[in-house]
Amino acid sequence: MRSILITGVSSGIGHACAELFAREGWRVIGTARTPGELADRVWPGDVALEALDLAVQGSGAELGARVIERYGVPDVLLNNAGMLQFGAVEDTSAEEIEHLFRVNVFEQIGLAMSLVPAMRQRGSGTIANVTSLGGRITFPFFGTYNASKHALEGFSEGLWHELKPFGIRVIAIEPGFVETAIWGKALPSSADALDVSEPYRAYQLAMMRFETSINDRTAPAKAANEIRRAIEDSGDRMRYPVAAYARPILAARRLLGDQRVMRFFHKRWMGTDA
Ligand SMILES: NC(=O)c1ccc[n+]([C@@H]2O[C@H](COP(=O)([O-])OP(=O)(O)OC[C@H]3O[C@@H](n4cnc5c(N)ncnc54)[C@H](OP(=O)(O)O)[C@@H]3O)[C@@H](O)[C@H]2O)c1
Repeated sequence: MRSILITGVSSGIGHACAELFAREGWRVIGTARTPGELADRVWPGDVALEALDLAVQGSGAELGARVIERYGVPDVLLNNAGMLQFGAVEDTSAEEIEHLFRVNVFEQIGLAMSLVPAMRQRGSGTIANVTSLGGRITFPFFGTYNASKHALEGFSEGLWHELKPFGIRVIAIEPGFVETAIWGKALPSSADALDVSEPYRAYQLAMMRFETSINDRTAPAKAANEIRRAIEDSGDRMRYPVAAYARPILAARRLLGDQRVMRFFHKRWMGTDA
């Protein structure tokens, strides 16, 4: 039976992936910050739950060791858990940025590295890092979040090179827009609830209105199908844009070049030409 370790199965993409892989007969080891809250959830197959809070330093490596001890080395690691941050870089404290990078980058790398020696010894394994369309391109007021995803892309590309000789695949899953709770967790529910310093207010409101106006986000189950195809792909491709807008925006950036797309984005949300 093939096995997959999926972080963050309590909701959204991780939950949909856990359901899909379990239904397909994989052994799924899923993580949640509070697995007890998922005790009543009915899964369509074999799903074991483990606790993981990526905000805790060393939690990724600790989970990896626990998983190897309890279940053996998984065939696939899907580094999915993550958080969104919305706001001007100037309005974000160093502590908030450190927290974001711990959750979205450092502990994910720690978890992957804790599995690598055993995967290398076995001569096989897949590390799938869920980055983002925002790991290739940066949107105003998503600068800190996008920076964390750019960092995970950088690690992924480095590891792609370093682990390929040992039979370990490293891929980056780059979702565009998926209909999950992540947006509501980070974006304020109304303009009045927006916590922003005055110089940025009008711009950030424009960005917020744009985000909340997107009504054709991909359903998590559909995104999970695309992720499964990426994980089961053969060959040595590293980047897999998935879900709404990821492929067209990246294609536009390739065709038009970085600066033109940046000018277009700037005009759209910051009101003037760059
Ligand atoms: N939705 C999109 O449009 C989109 C686009 C690009 C990239 N992504 C990426 O896709 C991944 C999944 O996001 P989603 O959209 O499915 O969002 P979601 O529904 O909010 O799910 C995020 C998952 O990560 C977990 N998580 C958050 N903080 C954690 C922490 N400190 N320690 C451990 N687990 C933590 C959450 O667990 P709790 O229930 O405990 O909070 C939850 O299970 C993220 O990496 C996100 O950046 C999503």
